[in-house]
Amino acid sequence: RDVHVIGAAFCEGQNLAGADAAPAALRAAGLAPALAKLGWTVHDPGDLDFDARYRERGLGASLPLDKHHESMERYREWEDSGMAVNFATWAHDHGAQHGSGADGDAAVGESSARAPPQIVNGPLIGCGLELVHEAVARAAALGRFALTLGGDHSVAAGSVSALCEAYPRLGVIWIDAHADANTPSTSPSLHYHGMPAAHLLGWFERQPAGFDWLRPGVLPESSLAYIGLRDIDPDEAKLLRASKAHVYTMRDVDKHGIGRVVEMALEAVDPHRNGPLHLSLDVDAVDPHFAPGTGTMVRGGLTYREIHYIAEEMALTGRLVGMDLVEVNPHLEPSQAGGGAARAMHNEDPEAAHVSPTVNLGVELILSALGKTIMHDRYH
Ligand code: ARG
Ligand code: MN
Ligand code: MN
Ligand code: MN
Repeated sequence: RDVHVIGAAFCEGQNLAGADAAPAALRAAGLAPALAKLGWTVHDPGDLDFDARYRERGLGASLPLDKHHESMERYREWEDSGMAVNFATWAHDHGAQHGSGADGDAAVGESSARAPPQIVNGPLIGCGLELVHEAVARAAALGRFALTLGGDHSVAAGSVSALCEAYPRLGVIWIDAHADANTPSTSPSLHYHGMPAAHLLGWFERQPAGFDWLRPGVLPESSLAYIGLRDIDPDEAKLLRASKAHVYTMRDVDKHGIGRVVEMALEAVDPHRNGPLHLSLDVDAVDPHFAPGTGTMVRGGLTYREIHYIAEEMALTGRLVGMDLVEVNPHLEPSQAGGGAARAMHNEDPEAAHVSPTVNLGVELILSALGKTIMHDRYH
């Protein structure tokens, strides 16, 4: 079988540099030869050229990282005062053609009207993710397994939407500490990487500028199951509770064990056990002990074996058509001296694991999802 690598070095959906270095780091850690050893034919055209696409569309650079926080603060300030701070005007003053955009214009000159919340870098993100959507759609059209290497979890808006279009009745298993189900109105951060699930499910109040290519609701609620959640925002929780999405938190893993939880999640999204499946794997689902190189760590996560078990079970179905591996941030890996996590790992290249435990784990998880097993059986 053929696997198509989509290098989505994209980190505009949050405010830490480094997640964009993951595709190159995963390649350098030996991803392609390991996949070939498993029997896959690997197609990897290299990283997507986001900058070229932004230039084509006349978009400038993203909001500087240190402005993310400021943009959120200013927005909340404006919200609290009702109308004192006009976010759209503020964004315009800061020269952020992409930070304001079509949505913001509505509020200008209408002091009593409430401007809609602004996704940080919204139009730029919409433009970049369209490129991911197109690449994943091409891979699927060629009948290849679509392996999207993030980047932050924003990229799932592009990959999952494309696979939902290519494979009707796609079931999505979303592994994450977070639900990424905030809308621009409920998001505490206004960072898009906390929103892609809500967007795919059709929960946004309006389509943000730059996202015309994404059909809201392209992913039906009942086709989504989460595993590993343990950090959900209050209003996000309300949305989830009112939805048909299937939520398995870390408490469910505690209570039922990982074996039963995976069984329930697969049963939920694919009751007849015959449909295509996609695995969207945010590495922050894994406990920080094993995956310290990520931007939004939360304690109490999946163990090394639990996350591998999930990937292995997905491979065992024989129906996995795509995978996202996101939120690996090589710049946030602990120094070699402090790498306690690395010492706990047993693998073929202990030195590599020692230097980059999370990158190495990422490679291992891709291999498990693509059929590597302890007993060297193959599932594809
Ligand atoms: N819930 C928080 C937010 O919406 C954090 C989201 C983290 N998302 C992620 N893909 N790591 O801002
Ligand atoms: Mn996520
Ligand atoms: Mn499309
Ligand atoms: Mn997460």
